[in-house]
Amino acid sequence: NPPLTIAIDGPAAAGKGTLAKRVAERYRLPYLDTGLIYRAVGRQIANAGADPDDADAAGMFARQLDVSHLDDPTLRGHEAGELASRVAVHGPVREALVAFQRGFAARPEGAVLDGRDIGTVICPEARVKIFVTASAEVRARRRTDELLAHGRDDVDYERILAEVRARDERDSGRDVAPLRPAEDAHLLDTSQLDIDGAFRAACEVVDRALAALDQH
Ligand code: C5P
Repeated sequence: NPPLTIAIDGPAAAGKGTLAKRVAERYRLPYLDTGLIYRAVGRQIANAGADPDDADAAGMFARQLDVSHLDDPTLRGHEAGELASRVAVHGPVREALVAFQRGFAARPEGAVLDGRDIGTVICPEARVKIFVTASAEVRARRRTDELLAHGRDDVDYERILAEVRARDERDSGRDVAPLRPAEDAHLLDTSQLDIDGAFRAACEVVDRALAALDQH
């Protein structure tokens, strides 16, 4: 059997991460959250006092990235996400990170990768591509509820909505590898779905791809 590579892309706060993790468990595949790599680059630049908007400097940090510390919980915060989306606009940064991501995707059993450009740039040959979306309002509402559930009391829905929109604009508007669905991606709009519903819909897409393969 050819490896089962599953590409899951979509905008910030669409629920890609949770979905990708569950899909990986279900099909017993290794999982890579590629956003963490950009977050790690952004964080290292900030720590070094360098300029995240300088393409060449950022590229150098990306080439020297140590990928063994991606489990640092502070990488998941809002600040690291902002830094990530600033460094992610630079061609030299993206190029430096391609080999690691493709290497991960090329595992013999397959892999699940989530990000912005997995189906379009990193794994254009992926057997399954899912583009997860939800309206900006729904995504901002989910993020607000998540922060409230974590006991944060400084949470403001309108501010979060503005941040979600700003991030969408930066990710979709950049010249290099902008956020967009691959032509052969399955669109999964989760505006009306909870996580179980989104998971079931994603599994249907994967199962159909597996069944089509069996018939050949
Ligand atoms: O998915 P996550 O929110 O962790 O990604 C943080 C930022 O990293 C995104 O807003 C995007 O700018 C960038 N990114 C990217 N390509 C990827 C994954 C993340 O440009 N494959």
